This record gives sequence, C-alpha cells and structure tokens, in this order.
Amino acid sequence: MAQSKPIERLTQSRVWRSFFRHGWPDNPLDRSLTMTSNIFFHLHPVKVSRKSLRWNYSFGLGIMAAILYGVLVFTGILLMFYYVPSVERAYPTMKEIQLSVPLGQFTRNMHRWAAHAMVLVVILHMARVFYTGAYKPPREFNWVIGVILLLLTLGASFTGYLLPWDQLSYWAITVGTNIAGYAPVAGPVMRELLLGGTEVSQNTLIRFYTLHIALLPASLVLLISVHFWRVRKDGGLAANEAPDAE
Ligand code: HEM
Repeated sequence: MAQSKPIERLTQSRVWRSFFRHGWPDNPLDRSLTMTSNIFFHLHPVKVSRKSLRWNYSFGLGIMAAILYGVLVFTGILLMFYYVPSVERAYPTMKEIQLSVPLGQFTRNMHRWAAHAMVLVVILHMARVFYTGAYKPPREFNWVIGVILLLLTLGASFTGYLLPWDQLSYWAITVGTNIAGYAPVAGPVMRELLLGGTEVSQNTLIRFYTLHIALLPASLVLLISVHFWRVRKDGGLAANEAPDAE
C-alpha cells in the first residue's frame, strides 16, 4: 500500500478535522462549507457580489470600528491594573502610569488615540451607510441598533474623559453635565443622576468609572454582536442586492 504524504496524514487526522470540517476549498461545496463553518467568515453570506467586496464600497469602516473597540478593551484592561478611581489617587496613578509603568505612556496614548479614532470611524461608517442607502428595509432595524451604538460610543468617550481627574477633565464634565441639565423635563434629574449630587465629586468619579469600565463596554459587546448577526441575516451588505450588483 502506498505511504500517504505527511500533509495528507495531517489533514485527515482527527484533530485537524475537528477544527476544519470540510475539504480543501477547490469546489463549490467545500467553498460554501469554508464560509459557514468558520466563525469569522460566517459574518459574510456564502455568496457575495463583487461590488460589495470593493474596498471603496464600505471602506472597511465597520470592521475598523470593531477593531478599535478591541484595542480599547485590551489597553483599558491594562490601565485598570494601575488606575484607582478616587479623587485623591486618580491623578497620581495616571502620572505613575505615564512616568514609571513600563510602556505605560504608550498604553495610555493607544487608549486615548483609539478612543478618538473610534468616534470618528463610527461617524464615517454611519455616513457611508446613509450615502449607500443601506438604512432602507430590511436594514432599518440594524440602523436603529447602529444609532444606539453611536450613542454608547459617545457615552464611553465622555465618561472616560473624567477619569484622569485633571483640570481639563474636571471642567469638561462640569460643562457637559450642566448642558445635560438644560434638557427639557428630564434634564435636572439626568444631571443629578450623572453627578451623584450637585457638583463633580467622588460620587461622579465612581459613577463615570463604573459606566466606563462595565456598563457601557458590556452594552457595546452585546449590541455589536446583534449588529453583526443582523448584517448576516439581512443578506450581507446592501450592495449584494443592488440591481447593478455583479
Ligand atoms: C460600534 C460601532 C459600530 C460597529 C463596530 C459597526 C460594525 C459594522 C460592520 C462590521 C458592518 C458590515 C461591514 C461594513 O459595512 O463596514 C456594519 C454594517 C452596517 N452598519 Fe454598522 N457598526 C457600528 C455603528 C453603526 C452606526 C452608528 C450605524 C448607523 C446609525 C450603523 C449601521 C449599519 C448598517 C445599516 C449596516 C449594513 C450596511 C449595508 O448593508 O451596506 N452601524 N456595521
């Protein structure tokens, strides 16, 4: 009996086949199975139009927003090892991160720049979706999820701004919460809820910290998952069903 090659033995082994449950993708069936059995490819429908794959159709902005979110979670967790959300220790711990923690300044800058970039990229993604008319049925539900994602992204950015507890943060949040207070009917209650009192204090810092590291990121993960699931269920990008789709 002819001896099989090592690569054949590997691809036929039980361990390999427990990961890759299809043959080499050189025929339509295995190509479809490659897409449907992989968690990352699974985001795409089995068949996509060439138009939706052109880089200048979506500019990859949605994926970019998701990657930036990943960077923020990773660098945010590293910062949490040192940062203490107390009015006495917040500013000194930020300085310690910058001046004495190995790669601390780099980590903090990555977190800050990724946060600015995410706000920009999410707004550009929303504009792309609008200009390609992808908000129309059946994608109107995903548009609404998107609007909530935008608000959550802005909320995460706003709450993070207070955490360094320097003059800029203190006064920015004072001004921001004062503006919220002028909203009709719910304004004053909203301001007090955010501040945990009548002015920016320890109560505000701990509230913003909890929103920033727990509530908002958890809501973002949940809604980004729903958003991706909807993209898949709505048949991939809207370009797939446009009359001129190739
Ligand atoms: C955390 C923020 C967001 C993330 C991570 C995200 C991610 C994505 C990804 C990966 C896609 C598919 C590929 C692409 O279009 O680039 C997509 C599509 C879509 N997104 Fe978002 N998105 C976000 C915010 C938004 C916002 C703010 C809106 C609008 C208000 C929105 C509405 C949509 C719609 C309607 C689609 C389908 C587009 C089509 O079929 O052409 N998303 N999103």
